[in-house]
Amino acid sequence: MVDAASYLTIRNLHKTYPGSEVPAVADASLMLERGRMLTLLGPSGCGKTTLLRMLAGLTLPESGLVLVGGRSMVGVPLHKRNMGMVFQSYALFPHLNVTRNIAFGLEVRGLNETARRKRVGDMIDLMHLGGLEHRRVADLSGGQRQRVALARALAIEPDILLLDEPLANLDVKLRGIMRDEIRSLQRRLGITSVFVTHDQEEALSIADVVAVMSGGHIRQIGTPVEIYDRPASRFVASFVGRGNFLSAASYIRAVLMLTV
Ligand SMILES: Nc1ncnc2c1ncn2[C@@H]1O[C@H](COP(=O)(O)OP(=O)(O)OP(=O)(O)O)[C@@H](O)[C@H]1O
Ligand SMILES: [Mg+2]
Repeated sequence: MVDAASYLTIRNLHKTYPGSEVPAVADASLMLERGRMLTLLGPSGCGKTTLLRMLAGLTLPESGLVLVGGRSMVGVPLHKRNMGMVFQSYALFPHLNVTRNIAFGLEVRGLNETARRKRVGDMIDLMHLGGLEHRRVADLSGGQRQRVALARALAIEPDILLLDEPLANLDVKLRGIMRDEIRSLQRRLGITSVFVTHDQEEALSIADVVAVMSGGHIRQIGTPVEIYDRPASRFVASFVGRGNFLSAASYIRAVLMLTV
């Protein structure tokens, strides 16, 4: 099955870690159009990071396929997948300055110095990091570091941007600001993106498409409105905030109490 509209295709990805009885990701499949933002939403331990790492080629699946633009990524290492990654923990080089951090992926790819400078300069402007070029990353604020991490991921002009809880270390206010910045940047640049979060508000507010996960399974895929208005299961309903369930038994009890 090949869907021409799908740019990123995941087909039956499966991963069980050695020593574990249950799969961390079980039979995960989805399709994402070019330029769209997908959020992977689910509770801690449900397999979000494992799925993202399989997309990047950092974790090998036991079975299944990742296709980008119809091309199989099987056996293609991370640096040849042309995917930008922003991790939950910053994963920047704290002792290096902002410029060196942003240039890192470009050096790995062998860009010459003139091209590197130009690209880094563009990223500094894009992420409003002007004036901080020579500051060590260790001496930046959380929000500034997050911008550097994004600049580094975007500098390589990735086909796909992978974000693993990129806002987790920020305070609530900054989280909101960065969330909006990421979303508008993603739209403006038209970068196909996968954004992992366990925060339902974050997931619903920035996504074109949401995939809700639990226990290693993708439970539902849909637009934020579909997920919110028509949850396919009790789990999805409870996880996206419509958690006011009345079980049949408690309903009957409540009716009985009212009529006594
Ligand atoms: N390297 C590993 N070796 C063995 N088990 C692992 C490994 N990494 C993750 N797991 C297990 O796989 C399951 C899924 O983990 P994963 O990190 O993908 O979850 P997550 O949804 O990203 O959670 P969180 O929201 O806490 O980051 C968990 O049960 C976890 O303990
Ligand atoms: Mg994780």
